[in-house]
Amino acid sequence: MERNGSWLRAMVVLTCLVAVSGARELEVRSKVHKAVYNHTLATILVEYASAVYMSDLTELFSWTCPRCDGKTKGFEVIELIVDIQHCLQAYVGVAEDLNAVVIAFRGTQEHSIQNWVEDLYWKQLDINYPGMPGAMVHHGFYYAYHNTTIRPGILDAVMRAKDLYGDVNVIATGHSMGGAMASFCGLDLVVNHEAQNVQVLTFGQPRIGNAVFASYYSDRVPNTIRITNGHDIVPHLPPYYSRFPQKTYHHFPREIGNWQ
Ligand SMILES: *[C@@H]1O[C@H](CO)[C@@H](O)[C@H](O)[C@H]1NC(C)=O
Ligand SMILES: *[C@@H]1O[C@H](CO)[C@@H](O)[C@H](O)[C@H]1NC(C)=O
Repeated sequence: MERNGSWLRAMVVLTCLVAVSGARELEVRSKVHKAVYNHTLATILVEYASAVYMSDLTELFSWTCPRCDGKTKGFEVIELIVDIQHCLQAYVGVAEDLNAVVIAFRGTQEHSIQNWVEDLYWKQLDINYPGMPGAMVHHGFYYAYHNTTIRPGILDAVMRAKDLYGDVNVIATGHSMGGAMASFCGLDLVVNHEAQNVQVLTFGQPRIGNAVFASYYSDRVPNTIRITNGHDIVPHLPPYYSRFPQKTYHHFPREIGNWQ
């Protein structure tokens, strides 16, 4: 009896140990979770990130522009969002083959740089990300997404897409500053709109926040990949800024970064 009792106690202790170590292992695993890079997906998304630079809005909306073919054929645009004042452009649509809503943001265009855009390459991390103590972000990128007509247009279109197609995945993409906006958008959808299955994949995206922000971000939007100079992908992109080569490149020592 006595022996049985202690045997039982030992079993309980053992079970708890196993449970605790199992939980710890899970926790660790989720902490080191990295998004899995899918090259096929990247070669598709670079075409979406590139098409948003097209200036013929009619062709873009009907998905008949010169870059609206090939791997993105059949894409259905739900909304084009254009902020003329800030020279921003984005679209939201549904790619049935990816089973996803795709959101693409345009970076700045070389010949239409406005002062405020130029500013944001030089400004320091100078605003707090709301609700996250210690997380600082670049105000230029933050406001380009949060303080223009882009955000309400995107959110409205994502809601409509979900009404039409159900709870499909969301993929946000963009090049350069468009990538920075895609990241803020992905985070916004997760944090403020309870979106599930949000994926962010960007090309040549500048850093947008400090280390606290980066850790907060990767916790909330773990499925994020920043492609910085994928050799076979770059040729498909619109030209990088000749005026800011150091600014757009020197933060990215790695080909495929992951918020490090
Ligand atoms: C990579 O992405 C493509 C396109 O979405 C998909 O068809 C494929 O199954 C993915 N591969 C893996 C290993 O997830
Ligand atoms: C945000 O937008 C409002 C309205 O357009 C504007 O008055 C304000 O200056 C903007 N704030 C920043 C920091 O850009």
